[in-house]
Amino acid sequence: MAHKIWGGRFNVGPDKIMEEINASIDFDKRLAYQDIACSKAHCQMLVETGIITAADAKQILGGLDEIEKEIEAGQFTFSKTLEDIHMNIEAGLSERIGEAAGRLHIARSRNDQIATDLRLYIRASIDEMDAQLAKLQLILARQAADHAATLMPGFTHLQIAQPISYGHYLLAYVEMFARDRARFGDARKRVNESPLGAAALAGTSFPIDRQKTAATLGFERVMANSIDSVSDRDFVLESLNCAAMTAMHLSRLGEEIILFATPQFGFFKLPDNYSTGSSIMPQKRNPDAAELIRAKTGRIIASLIGLFIVMKALPLAYAKDMQEDKEGLFDAFDNLSLCLSAMAGQMAHIVPDKEKMRAAAGAQFSTATELADWLVREAGLTFREAHHITGRLVAKAESRACALHELSLADMQAENSHITESVYQFLDPAHAVASRTSFGGTAPQNVKQAAEAWLDRLQKTGTKT
Ligand code: ARG
Repeated sequence: MAHKIWGGRFNVGPDKIMEEINASIDFDKRLAYQDIACSKAHCQMLVETGIITAADAKQILGGLDEIEKEIEAGQFTFSKTLEDIHMNIEAGLSERIGEAAGRLHIARSRNDQIATDLRLYIRASIDEMDAQLAKLQLILARQAADHAATLMPGFTHLQIAQPISYGHYLLAYVEMFARDRARFGDARKRVNESPLGAAALAGTSFPIDRQKTAATLGFERVMANSIDSVSDRDFVLESLNCAAMTAMHLSRLGEEIILFATPQFGFFKLPDNYSTGSSIMPQKRNPDAAELIRAKTGRIIASLIGLFIVMKALPLAYAKDMQEDKEGLFDAFDNLSLCLSAMAGQMAHIVPDKEKMRAAAGAQFSTATELADWLVREAGLTFREAHHITGRLVAKAESRACALHELSLADMQAENSHITESVYQFLDPAHAVASRTSFGGTAPQNVKQAAEAWLDRLQKTGTKT
């Protein structure tokens, strides 16, 4: 039997394998609500422009309502023979209301339908992602306010570099997630345009009102070119890029949780509810959630790259290749959302070991820069000279297996006679951190202020900025 919806010019129906490769219903059924919303908007416009009768529109809208309820109740049967979500719903409508269902597809195509559905889906997903990111920011900013004066080492090359405030470290991620939100917000502007009414690719000879359908669906504007409307997936790529960037940030935080929770670092105690045990080693506490966040970032980036490869050589306008955009998109967004929840849960419960963090903050001559800065300020040396002298003092301390502040004044003066007793207080990591008051620096007073500004902004705006 030829295909029910498009089989007019065929004598036989598609081969089983053809059905297998062609059908998208298994994954695009999650666009059902967007597809119905799109059909309702189209139908309302068709009746208002006099293209269909009020009686037909009433039947169509009633039928779509019924289908929506059935889908919600899990009672609607999706069929693979009907390929995709658009034809499943159209066929369902035709079963329920008969002939009038055949008028719904006037002046539209599955090409503008799918582009519209996908834009609606991404718009809603971006809003969810934004809310999740805001929640995570709030958790981090609260802890940053509490830990403005908690010390930890800052690293470069993963070697202890200079002491910093733990609150400052947490706020670095708050800033990253703010940029992720801004990026999603910017992408949303371009997602929020209506391709509906572009029809197959060339527009239509029916007197449709594209402004009307765009407004009904909450789109900001109508897309100007019908070919572009149905043939680009840059809005999917752009949103995937936002997801990949966010995931990359989450993954770096995940990596640090993994490192900091090792006994070698010992900075974090992982919460029971976000750790796992080993089936053989009873003592183990594993950071599986952080590891999976790190790993899932790979598949999210892969979705972005995968779709770039699908799109890069496609001639305009629509080609079925574009059907391959959906699984990667759904997978990326689902996993990003999961990672955001897991990160929020973990970070809300992680217990920093202040003692260990403080001890590490002063390790590995982490205040050597303070000594060099002191020589510049108090002894009038150039920074290069000061750097050299400090380097020799570090070597001296290293050869004696002691810390810089454990060198005697005589040892210090042997390298530079201007050094006085007052240098010692500068070698204290807490002093070093407190002195870094430059804008954006790690001094607790800066951190407190920045954390409070964030808390204020996040609480005032709720999940919307
Ligand atoms: N399932 C298709 C997709 O996801 C919908 C559009 C189909 N259009 C067509 N001309 N076959 O891309």
